[in-house]
Amino acid sequence: MTKTDLMVKELVDKYGNKRESLLPILQGVYDLEHFVSDEAMVSIARNLDLSSADVYGKSTFYSFLDTIPRGKFVIRVCKTIVCDMHDKNQIVDTLENILKIKVGETTLNRKFSLLYTNCLGWCHKGPAMLVNDDVYTDLTPESIREIITDYKNRE
Ligand code: FES
Repeated sequence: MTKTDLMVKELVDKYGNKRESLLPILQGVYDLEHFVSDEAMVSIARNLDLSSADVYGKSTFYSFLDTIPRGKFVIRVCKTIVCDMHDKNQIVDTLENILKIKVGETTLNRKFSLLYTNCLGWCHKGPAMLVNDDVYTDLTPESIREIITDYKNRE
């Protein structure tokens, strides 16, 4: 049994092997590996008696279930209109300068990925971004530097 099969088996034991278990299992894989690999999708399909196409369809439907390997900390900057009007570009420029990557890329040490996302529901406090599950609002270049320094110091 491969490492991926073992991981999937543990998640199936935890969430069950019914169709409705698919999303929590995919989320569990994402939490552990920071993306959902082809190998994991095939293993999940086998365990839940679903087609690989079913699992792939679900994995690619939700933007938070990335199927591309990402960094440990995935930064998602809101690109929707209100944050855009609140100088989202300045926030992105600051992040790109600090991390030395462009939007869509991952740092060489696999610690950070920088992505865009749609409205996070914090328009009244834009510009806003997520780092994994944590929301940051009222962003400025100064607050971005503090936030990224904090994450750089995390294991
Ligand atoms: S437009 Fe950015 S949080 Fe809504």
